[in-house]
Amino acid sequence: MELSSKKLLAHIGVQIDNFDCSKKLNTSEVEFIRNSIQENHFICFKNQKLNGETLAQFTKNFGELEAYPEKDKTKGKIEIFNVSNVSENGDHLPEDDQRVLLQKNNSRWHTDSSYRYYPAVFSMLYGQEILPPEAAGGQTQFSNMLMAYEELSDDKKMLLEPLHQVHSYNDIRRLEPGLPELTQSEKSNFPPVTHPLIRVHPDRNYKKSLFFTSNTSLEIGGMSLDEGRDLHKWLVDYISNPEFCYTHYWDLNDLVMWDNRVLLHRVIPYDYSRYRRAMIRGTVEGKEPVAGPFSNTIRNKL
Ligand SMILES: [Fe+2]
Repeated sequence: MELSSKKLLAHIGVQIDNFDCSKKLNTSEVEFIRNSIQENHFICFKNQKLNGETLAQFTKNFGELEAYPEKDKTKGKIEIFNVSNVSENGDHLPEDDQRVLLQKNNSRWHTDSSYRYYPAVFSMLYGQEILPPEAAGGQTQFSNMLMAYEELSDDKKMLLEPLHQVHSYNDIRRLEPGLPELTQSEKSNFPPVTHPLIRVHPDRNYKKSLFFTSNTSLEIGGMSLDEGRDLHKWLVDYISNPEFCYTHYWDLNDLVMWDNRVLLHRVIPYDYSRYRRAMIRGTVEGKEPVAGPFSNTIRNKL
């Protein structure tokens, strides 16, 4: 059957029905999906039947699998993360369990693995257990950073252009103090990195977008601490504007794929002790730094 998609919103997202992501993909299918994600930033594949292995296989069509920084804490296989408040044995985890605390941190706007020097490109999230329809929360929300940048005033663009944010995996502990300390080797494998607040996309005609997170730090650098915190707060409010967002209401067995380079995402908080929510994620590793407008490769092209 010919692959086809339908638009979800004008600025984010398509849905693909009648396609089996567990099979071996041919070149034209991979190309169709690549073009689709480049144009729409988000794809939902309906009615999938996946496990860790087939999800890893599907993910590898688009690059190399990224491994999670903390060994054996949230998953069976390090390349497939359990985004879940359910243990591998199927037990509903208590709300103060470290695996649940990590899920809570996902309710802050972020892009996956921004704490890496080369952050992730695509994420693939498969819904194995979802909240019942009457439950509040549990949706995944996305905000379009190309659009958010476009809509900034010229003054704001000028203010933001030279600024950076520090992204630190260890700082998740500051936001979720119940998490256990990282080991020395986990810490040294993931030292803090900085990324420009405005990134440039050579594969999109050198368009600019915003790039920041609120799950690794709550400050912007290059100004006083108070100013940096105020600006960060302002950015969080600004990109939460529904005009930039798409909210994904999960159906069981949805596989959603998104482009971390141009979208931020967060889970809408839900009652973690009352409802089970189990998802697995495959992640396509980034191979390039986040290029800001002042990098040598970019400045001559602008
Ligand atoms: Fe995430």
